[in-house]
Amino acid sequence: MKHLLLILLLAPALLAVDFSGIWVSSIKQPDGHTDREVFVLKQTGNQLTGRVERAWGTLNIQEGSVDGSHFVLAAKTDDGYKVGYDGTLDGDKLYVTVHEPNAKPFQLVATRAATDPFMVAHVLPPPPVRDLPPNGLAKTPPIGWNSWNLFAGKIDDKTVREMADALVASGMRDAGYIYLNIDDTWEGDRGADGVIHSNDKFPDMKALADYVHSKGLKFGIYSSPGPYTCAGYEGSYGHEAQDAKTYAAWGVDYLKYDWCSASRLYPDSAMRAVYQKMAEALRATKRPIVYSLCQYGRDDVWTWGDKAGGNLWRTTGDINDTYKRMMEIVDTQSVIAKYAGPGHWNDPDMLEIGNGGMTTDEYRTHMSLWAIFAAPLLAGNDVRTMSDDTKSILLNKEVIAVDQDPMGMQGKVVGQINNVEFYGRPLNNGDSALVVVNRADSATSMKMSWGEMHVPAGTKVRDLWKHEDFTAKEDQEFTIPAHGSLMFRMKAAK
Ligand code: GLA
Repeated sequence: MKHLLLILLLAPALLAVDFSGIWVSSIKQPDGHTDREVFVLKQTGNQLTGRVERAWGTLNIQEGSVDGSHFVLAAKTDDGYKVGYDGTLDGDKLYVTVHEPNAKPFQLVATRAATDPFMVAHVLPPPPVRDLPPNGLAKTPPIGWNSWNLFAGKIDDKTVREMADALVASGMRDAGYIYLNIDDTWEGDRGADGVIHSNDKFPDMKALADYVHSKGLKFGIYSSPGPYTCAGYEGSYGHEAQDAKTYAAWGVDYLKYDWCSASRLYPDSAMRAVYQKMAEALRATKRPIVYSLCQYGRDDVWTWGDKAGGNLWRTTGDINDTYKRMMEIVDTQSVIAKYAGPGHWNDPDMLEIGNGGMTTDEYRTHMSLWAIFAAPLLAGNDVRTMSDDTKSILLNKEVIAVDQDPMGMQGKVVGQINNVEFYGRPLNNGDSALVVVNRADSATSMKMSWGEMHVPAGTKVRDLWKHEDFTAKEDQEFTIPAHGSLMFRMKAAK
């Protein structure tokens, strides 16, 4: 009788499922790469704590609870990116629904694992920090095309070749867009000797680089200082010298090096040394390779990016194809203007012009401001099928000339009247450039007070979007469309 009572009392506990442990979901993608999501869970009563690991980094569980075999989690990165999870534990399988911000929920199935596949047992110490001298490259901001903004994981050899052809046929190459850069998702496995191979989407990287070079273009590639890239492909961790040699042998001219999973291994304070490591490996190859740091502007990278060997460094998190996000980035660029200059540039991320999410006026603002900021101009659209509006923006040689001005002085915000902002920069030949942005949601008429801009009445001015000259007159009236811009080049007084 006593025993029966005990069994009845303990029954719910004996039946209750236990979520504690490591759970891994692995999904093989068509290009051979495996997408993993790892749940490291600890159950205490009906509370769940722990973390979710993705290739690019960690989401810490903020709230987690269990109700029988059902669970709910809310997890967040250090940067505040939140993902929700819920689902059920059935036998030895964890059925999970993932709720990403601004995306349709999707399902995963995870099974128990003995270890977390993303953990690295012994973290390699980065080299002692030293000041690297300039590598002599990127005297003006890098200009070209990158695959990520439009193609993301859907980039392959055929598309890159077509883009090379289109860069030539459209006149983009001759307007200066020289770099053709493949972003994430080209990486395959390493051989037994540790040498990195491209995946099935890129059957022969050397042949592809040769093709790109034969078109008078330069060839760029992407990797991460961590074991995995942001999209979960093979990174360069522990293989820096070997990868630099492979890139040089392929004929790579540009490397974008993206922090991603290195965050699991190193604190932000180690970034400089970690980036220096690859800079030294690239330099040891003796091939001139532009070095692009991508760590989203953490640890005030603009104060050390050049000393770590960088030619450019991202100053923010990712852009997307919206006016709102583009302008959020703009608002953080003026205060760091002084850190840019020939050979070492602030990078407010790649262009979205022509990708469809903004109006033509907004894209003109995007181009005008990137030029005033002396920003790298990496187009991210489909160059094969550009509209006339997109062409007129990306191929505006007078705006490109401001961006590529040899003095390399980054412009900044210089004034504001209500919703109208003024951005200016001095140019090498004594001219100066001015962008006037209407941030209002409707068209605005304004009277230009040239005097306040230190532009004397009578100055010859070139309208860089209308391609017309005029003479500055005090209180001249201009109309600017919603979210649109004017861009002027003021001639130096003779
Ligand atoms: C990060 C970078 C992007 C792009 C992706 C690729 O998000 O900031 O520019 O390179 O990774 O996975």
